[in-house]
Amino acid sequence: MNNVMAWCCAFGPVQRARVVSLLGLMCVVSASLLATGCGQTPAATFRLNLVESSKQQLTPSQEQQVATILAALFGTPDEPRVPPEINLDVAKLKLAAGPVRSDIVGRKNGLYREHCAHCHGVTGDGMGPTAAFLNPYPRDYRPGVFKFKSTERADKPTHSDLVMVLRKGLAGSSMPSFALLSDAKIDALAEYVKYLSVRGQVELSLMRAYFELDDEDEGVLPQSREFLFEEIIDPVTEMWAAADDAIIDVPDMPADLDMVASIAKGKELFYGNKANCVKCHGVSGLGDGQANDYDDWNKVVLQAQKTVDGGVKQAEKASTWDMSAEERDEHRTELAWLDRFETVLDGNALRPRMIRPRNLRQGVYRGGMRPLDLYYRIHAGINGAPMPAAKGTVPPEDIWHIVNYIKSLPYDFNGTLGVDRPMVARDRM
Ligand code: HEC
Ligand code: HEC
Repeated sequence: MNNVMAWCCAFGPVQRARVVSLLGLMCVVSASLLATGCGQTPAATFRLNLVESSKQQLTPSQEQQVATILAALFGTPDEPRVPPEINLDVAKLKLAAGPVRSDIVGRKNGLYREHCAHCHGVTGDGMGPTAAFLNPYPRDYRPGVFKFKSTERADKPTHSDLVMVLRKGLAGSSMPSFALLSDAKIDALAEYVKYLSVRGQVELSLMRAYFELDDEDEGVLPQSREFLFEEIIDPVTEMWAAADDAIIDVPDMPADLDMVASIAKGKELFYGNKANCVKCHGVSGLGDGQANDYDDWNKVVLQAQKTVDGGVKQAEKASTWDMSAEERDEHRTELAWLDRFETVLDGNALRPRMIRPRNLRQGVYRGGMRPLDLYYRIHAGINGAPMPAAKGTVPPEDIWHIVNYIKSLPYDFNGTLGVDRPMVARDRM
């Protein structure tokens, strides 16, 4: 390292300019390594969900209580741990966790930080360093909501669903395929996603539990095991355990189906007012219907911003003259809270972005292109996104007609589209 530094500095200004593009980078890298020292990186830590704690108006000591409980239950990004009641395989978690390294038999650890953390963040909050540049943003696992799965809308994905997402990636988004990793590694990573998700949901429940406290609790969560497991942890783990029983019941596609008739029936349903796919995906199917909505993750930030903006406006209007001393104190606390909330949003949330209904003429589907995948999507809708479930409004067998129609759309060029609509231009967007 020192040699590189000396070498960089030995060049005169003219020669230096010639080699600057290569060596400049090396100098900067080596200088910063020298400044911090090799191997001195501080241990990774989980980030607290500050947006939720600000929303719940938690005090610093309450935030500390949440952090202490979480550390006791789940350990750290380098040393994950889970109580036996939470059904997760610690050996798999250890393969995925920690800094990137190989153990004595050459087995690679630190898979999550090697492959996922730059997008999904060490905490799984979807705020890794590259996240702000991506659209859609990487998933924040903490609310425990997943989109592309074989289970009913509100249910968790099965382990195989997560494995499938990792193997195939999500086409049309920046979520890559990890098909080149071994089965064991993918399995460990899927387990680690569950771990981060359970941890994140437990954190949310803990933060929300302060709201339910009685006066005699004095702002401190009960320390009892009953409270922690029965009220907070069990409801989350039970949902994960129930996923395998929540797989959507799919009727067989009729073997003697007349495809032309089926597509026509699907088209009728697509435009009809029961399924009403046309409302969002547009008359053209290009995804140019209603497009001013947000997914749940962006909605949380949007609503927080509205709370802050509305609160500040109201506080500015309020006249402190005719307030009692007590009211004035409350007013001051409210302003301090709004101020802190605003700062937290600046540093801990990504700018809300609207979600566009999919362009169905491209034939690119994030959740997979098998007819079965499309059946799942249409039956259950997309959890966390505005896309509603057709379940209950369209009979199960008829969903196959919609699937067949959707699959025909990329090939449905009858001359009416593209002539008067700038379809090709839109596709390039
Ligand atoms: C280049 C960025 C990037 C990398 C690297 C990445 N992801 Fe993602 N991931 C995304 C994006 C973006 C989404 C959200 C796509 C969407 O909402 O349609 C996503 C979504 C997911 C989902 C949610 C799927 C669902 O059904 O909702 C899981 C699980 C996931 N990623 C796991 C991982 C794991 C594990 C790794 C590492 C092995 C990883 N990702 C690496 C960008 C990335
Ligand atoms: C309220 C608006 C809305 C309605 C109604 C709606 N969708 Fe969607 N749809 C969306 C949005 C938004 C997305 C993108 C979701 C995402 O990226 O997470 C989407 C995505 C899709 C996808 C892509 C799935 C994938 O794997 O990428 C398909 C297919 C789809 N919709 C079909 C339909 C069909 C068929 C109907 C009618 C039964 C329908 N949609 C009704 C909003 C809607």
